[in-house]
Amino acid sequence: MKDILHQLEAKRDIARMGGGQKRIDSQHAKGKLTARERIELLLDEGSFEEFDMFVTHRCTDFGMPDNKPEGDGVVTGWGTINGRMVYVFSQDFTVLGGSVSATHAQKICKIMDMAMQNGAPVIGINDSGGARIQEGVDSLAGYGEVFQRNIMASGVVPQISLIMGPCAGGAVYSPAMTDFIFMVKDSSYMFVTGPDVVKTVTNEHVTAEELGGATTHTRKSSVADGAFENDVEALAEVRRLVDFLPLHNREAPPVRPFFDDPERVEPSLDTLIPENPNTPYDMKELILKIADEGDFYEIQEDFAKNIITGFIRLEGRTVGVVANQPMVLAGVLDIDSARKAARFVRFCDCFEIPILTLVDVPGFLPGTKQEYDGVIKHGAKLLYAYGEATVPKVTVITRKAYGGAYVVMSSKHLRGDFNYAWPTSEVAVMGAKGATEILYRSELDDPEKIAARTAEYEDRFANPFVAAERGFIDEVIQPRSTRRRVARAFAALRHKKGEMPWKKHDNIPL
Ligand code: HXC
Repeated sequence: MKDILHQLEAKRDIARMGGGQKRIDSQHAKGKLTARERIELLLDEGSFEEFDMFVTHRCTDFGMPDNKPEGDGVVTGWGTINGRMVYVFSQDFTVLGGSVSATHAQKICKIMDMAMQNGAPVIGINDSGGARIQEGVDSLAGYGEVFQRNIMASGVVPQISLIMGPCAGGAVYSPAMTDFIFMVKDSSYMFVTGPDVVKTVTNEHVTAEELGGATTHTRKSSVADGAFENDVEALAEVRRLVDFLPLHNREAPPVRPFFDDPERVEPSLDTLIPENPNTPYDMKELILKIADEGDFYEIQEDFAKNIITGFIRLEGRTVGVVANQPMVLAGVLDIDSARKAARFVRFCDCFEIPILTLVDVPGFLPGTKQEYDGVIKHGAKLLYAYGEATVPKVTVITRKAYGGAYVVMSSKHLRGDFNYAWPTSEVAVMGAKGATEILYRSELDDPEKIAARTAEYEDRFANPFVAAERGFIDEVIQPRSTRRRVARAFAALRHKKGEMPWKKHDNIPL
């Protein structure tokens, strides 16, 4: 008996060594942790339970029968993050470059199936040379099986991807279908075709980092939702994110202990809005002052900065925040910001996370670039996302809410539940200057007359009261009381049951 136990431990030790010490050292030399070290940092200490440690590939070509590392290049299993269950797979680059064989893919599929069945998030750590070249179409089939599960799990359990090494070719499409992608600066990249192919086909000379590094994907393409300095930081931040999320779509997000009075008033907010309506201010200040303990988890911080998205807690409960940022492009809506916010709103709605919308929007960005690139369709995404969302929706207009953008930003007309406005709000079709220039075109060469017309328009429309008279604004509130008002609104909506008519699925303008 003792021998058998020893044999088991010896076998485990071999499996734990992955591709061997030399390759582990090489992984460390690149500033990367190994697959198992990553899992250890991601999960609560000692909570990891591994599956399929002894699985090996079944490839018979290219001398592969003599090279059958245990685990086949991916470590899979489950564990906990702050006591809550998650499923994990972590590709082991030290084993055949973390390449995906049929059995490697089966291991991933197994934990995805279990995650779906048991209602817990899937966190995938990607570090792989892609399809196992020796296996050919069997490897592609394995990818296909994973893709199908990504689709089935979407909106059922949160799916989070960490890119911690190469992720190329069709392999990028599994992370692409997950809810969040996080990358590590300088050691991860994602592209459909690598720099060499790009050079051959398009004659462009580009490095892997330029083509698909963390900076590219967090600032330009918006494929990734965040980038971190190193593996340790990335794993710690994913733990923080998981704390905001429900385990699955039939469970409310977790309630965490909080030490911040929901009644807290913030007198400084009374002077947040500058005298001059064209002077910017930092909307993040408002977010931080509303949030429990000023804790804000921002998503896509480096992309489309004219809109802010992320998670806060109110009375310990997760709330998704979407906020126009007057500091960037005056907070205007454009293609990028609409896409960014629409995806975030839909994530929140999938997982029953209430949405707080903070509005200071002068309208949609005009111009041929926007129109040619389809701002109509892309802008409609955000409109659609808000309109279909049935989670509690609370909106606070701080300053401008002009035109179509007013309607889009979780207005009453899109089933906003509580729509508040600060006294500094201007809910109107457009700004006073633009309006008078259209209405009084014949008087444009008389500056005095135009100034008088502008003042008249401002008096009439540059306030929240016309909208409040019609019930489009539920109440005009004191800025200082925003946290209290918003927290009370969400508390009042805790048992909200929103509905959509039966349909197979919707046809959002993609
Ligand atoms: C089998 C692979 C492999 C692969 C790497 N290895 N990629 N084995 N299949 N796809 C092995 C190497 O032979 C090597 O084995 C070890 O992993 C480490 O690889 P190195 O090249 O030494 O590492 P590095 O210099 O860091 O380069 C990493 C790399 C490079 C850039 C990922 O290995 C590479 O270009 N690999 C091929 C990438 C590729 O073309 N994949 C197929 C993409 S198509 P030893 O024994 O020496 O340690 C695809 C389609 C998916 O993925 C479609 C889904 C629908």
